[in-house]
Amino acid sequence: MTDVEAVPGAPRERAQALRSQLHHHAHRYYVLDAPEIPDAEYDRLFQELQALEAQYPALRTPDSPTQRVGGKLLEGFAKVRHTVPMLSIRTETDIEASGARNFDARVRRELALAADAAPVEYVAELKFDGLALNLRYEAGALVQAATRGDGEVGEDVTQNIRTIGQIPLRLPADAPPVLEVRGEVYMRRDDFERLNELQREKIAQGAKHEKTFVNPRNAAAGAVRQLDPAIARQRPLSFYAYGWGEIQGGPDFQTHFEVLQTLKAWGFPVSERVQVARGAEDLVAYHRAVGQARDQLPFDIDGVVYKVNALALQQQLGFVTREPRWAVAHKFPAQEQVTTVQAIDVFVGRTGKLTPVAKLQPVFVGGVTVTNATLHNEDEARRKDVRVGDQVIVRRAGDVIPEVVSVVPGQRTHEAPVFTMPSHCPVCGSQAVREEGEADYRCTGGLFCGAQRKQSLLHFAQRRAMDIEGLGEKLVDQVVDAGIIRTLPDLYRLGLANLSALDRMGEKSAQNLLAGLEQSKATTLPRFLFALGIRHVGEATARDLARHFGTLDAVMHANVDQLLQVPDVGPVVAESLHTFFAQAHNREVVEQLRACGVHWPEGEPVATASLPLTGKTVVLTGTLPTLSRDEAKALLEAAGAKVAGSVSKKTHYVVAGAEAGSKLDKARELGVPVLDEDGLRALLETPTAL
Ligand code: IVH
Repeated sequence: MTDVEAVPGAPRERAQALRSQLHHHAHRYYVLDAPEIPDAEYDRLFQELQALEAQYPALRTPDSPTQRVGGKLLEGFAKVRHTVPMLSIRTETDIEASGARNFDARVRRELALAADAAPVEYVAELKFDGLALNLRYEAGALVQAATRGDGEVGEDVTQNIRTIGQIPLRLPADAPPVLEVRGEVYMRRDDFERLNELQREKIAQGAKHEKTFVNPRNAAAGAVRQLDPAIARQRPLSFYAYGWGEIQGGPDFQTHFEVLQTLKAWGFPVSERVQVARGAEDLVAYHRAVGQARDQLPFDIDGVVYKVNALALQQQLGFVTREPRWAVAHKFPAQEQVTTVQAIDVFVGRTGKLTPVAKLQPVFVGGVTVTNATLHNEDEARRKDVRVGDQVIVRRAGDVIPEVVSVVPGQRTHEAPVFTMPSHCPVCGSQAVREEGEADYRCTGGLFCGAQRKQSLLHFAQRRAMDIEGLGEKLVDQVVDAGIIRTLPDLYRLGLANLSALDRMGEKSAQNLLAGLEQSKATTLPRFLFALGIRHVGEATARDLARHFGTLDAVMHANVDQLLQVPDVGPVVAESLHTFFAQAHNREVVEQLRACGVHWPEGEPVATASLPLTGKTVVLTGTLPTLSRDEAKALLEAAGAKVAGSVSKKTHYVVAGAEAGSKLDKARELGVPVLDEDGLRALLETPTAL
């Protein structure tokens, strides 16, 4: 009997199963750049196998994935033996500060530092989620770019890498004759979204061999390891330098930080967030600060890296197997996890948009417990072919809504039907329609639909619409759930009696709400039009409509052609308005609101060309001394100006207050006139004088 046979059947079989799963997933990840499961899931399987092998060492076969570091190589690229091996890095996964403190304690112990010795100096960096590259320069010219591969031998991807604008092809004269720069090639999130958008279009047009990418890292890996450089060139890649390999000649560097600064001077992108840190507490603070900023970064990171700064100390610390003792990666919670779909529900939004949502077995991902993930729309749900009972990869990156990335292949053992969108609104039963050229289904129930009721009430009550003090989300939920309010006019029929019947509603807050409602009755036509929540009618359109038609009746009775006369109103908006007011129940709501006392000054239509600032575009930035942003905007718009969000050559004025930022810089750069609040007032009074 061999050793392996001495191991009980269950663990032996489990180890066998884990090995074959890990082999499969390693191939998908390293060779095909098309993983089927998230890294965190791979790590879990890997650790389970490691634990089994620790318990039964006979299971530790030479071909076990635990005995191999790094990836296999794809046929098709020339192999490159690294002159200095590309090491991996030890990982701490503790969410808490202990990751940094453990590392610091280990370093101090290994350097035999006394407890009262000065803090060790570190460099703290981002851990970019892309793939490692070695760039070799000889006599100042890029001669070779190679992937990490298994750490000893990588792939020659020079042709593809040459197309990355951020990577210098030539170095300045003071660079050493032989220089290897190491860093991470990655794809920015916005570039990734655009690329996937493009891929989806190609697929929609029938391209057979195209695919979308599951995340920026895989898209980057796919581009770098693309056998056709012409395709690689179209993939938007970026690069950050964080280390080096062989160097011959050049300065006598003392610290890691000094090398990074020098690399920057030689033209390599080095992250602005690289920081020198003294002792564990600085590292803890860095981990926390970066963790908070993670969502705002334009690219994915999966943690931070701490490195001992002094190169002499790095040498003294040395390596264990293939990991340096002087560096550690401190990871953040994973942004992708596997879980099970328990149901697929359809959510109805304020505008009546139907969104398929996967109800999930709760899973901790991206730092929160996720129970719902969007499937976006019918086409996406079909493309991903998500079915009830499936194991899926869920991604939550940043503050974006959690989404189902893909189904884990080969897991479906059950019979489940293909998902189809319902033909009727799941909330009110009205017909659901998908407009030509649109991805979404919409409920046609308008102000009638229960799902749209809460949200249309909230929209109606918001500050920029009817501005009803005291009517927030909680209260809307309560009054709708209690059945006190079914339609908008019911709001103005509220009395103390039915309000005080509500849970936790004191007499004081009831009175406040009633006062808020009373006050809101005196409004303006643009606010009222906007408040109705007509699809495609935002504040600006509502204002244009009011200005053009002068009265609500004129807007309500306008036909599509007449609506198209309004500046900036196109066929989609005109159609939407016309359909809205063609519904008897919508006209009824409007009449009832008026009957309840909602009123506004009605005027004659104003020819927009006659307003003093018609045709002028103004951008607001910073804090003005007395006017709020909304007030300044309202004044400008009332004078006919368009208030835009960003400065361009087409901007006529920038109004800047305290702490104005990049918009002010842009205005100066483009020579756009900049006004302060007084200047703004002068402009409003005598626009021609300026
Ligand atoms: S240093 C000897 N610094 O993480 C240390 N690596 O195994 C060598 N990575 O795939 C790595 N950001 O590509 C280092 N600021 C950073 C990094 C970083 C990302 C990646 C690297 C490698 C893995 C480390």
